[in-house]
Amino acid sequence: VPGPLAYLNGEFLPRSSATLSVEDRGFVFGDGVYEVWRVLGGQPFELDAHLARLKFGLGELRITPPDIAESDMFSNVAKRLLGASSLETGEATIYLEITRGAAPRTHQFPLTPTRPTVFAVANRFEPPEPLRARGARAITMPDVRWLRCDIKTIQLLPNVLAKQTAVEQGATEAIFIRDGVVTEGSHTNLFGVERGVIRTHPANNLILGGVTRSVVIDIARSLGIEVDETPIAGDRIGGLDEAFLVGTTTDVMPLVRVDEHTVGSGAPGPIAKQLQLALRERLDAIGGERRSPATIAS
Ligand SMILES: Cc1ncc(COP(=O)(O)O)c(C=O)c1O
Repeated sequence: VPGPLAYLNGEFLPRSSATLSVEDRGFVFGDGVYEVWRVLGGQPFELDAHLARLKFGLGELRITPPDIAESDMFSNVAKRLLGASSLETGEATIYLEITRGAAPRTHQFPLTPTRPTVFAVANRFEPPEPLRARGARAITMPDVRWLRCDIKTIQLLPNVLAKQTAVEQGATEAIFIRDGVVTEGSHTNLFGVERGVIRTHPANNLILGGVTRSVVIDIARSLGIEVDETPIAGDRIGGLDEAFLVGTTTDVMPLVRVDEHTVGSGAPGPIAKQLQLALRERLDAIGGERRSPATIAS
């Protein structure tokens, strides 16, 4: 069996042979953006929403979108990467990164325009169902990030350090607090429930507008649950009836403990469970798979 394949600048090659210039501005400056898709039965979930966010980010960085930012081209690359690793069935993820390209190091954009570097890989994915059944723990940390968190850049150092601190403390996620309010998690968006109403930070420059966040808001409203896009005060997390994280590889993850506070009853809450069930149905629908309700509800 050949090793996993990578797509790099128009070529498919073994991942171990996919190499970059040391002058790549992604390597030198973190000058690039990325996306992660959930894939079910070979089909990327919310393909266009992720591509739209990618194009938005490229626009903000003033990188001319390469062909892969087009849905047809992306689908072809995705199909080949998935096929090469036998990922046309079951669950997978696709990672795509685009940087400004390689050039001698200067902070300003290179005088001679560079060709953007395009890199993509597909990996097998297993959703964290045992943790979902128990409920996860999170810690809070000061949000020390810049003021353009709406761009999905590869510069993730605050997120990396926050998540590492969480893991060292036996938690699953670090939740950022800025100016006394919850913004989001290191790689997830946070939702709270108070008296039956869902609250989450508005999708402005202080958070990454998650694709899952949009899908979950849509699901909640279709189920008749009110969604209020106003921030949750950091000191109110312990008093929420429910709290949960949402994201591409997280789905809806109930939180049962944040710092020293037990959330709600200390078990996954009913609204989180209901939303997870509905999200799982949308995921399965795209993969053309039907799972038993028992698997979904766990
Ligand atoms: C900081 C941050 N917030 C939220 C999310 C969730 O976004 P999505 O649902 O599009 O995966 C991510 C995903 O990586 C993220 O990095």
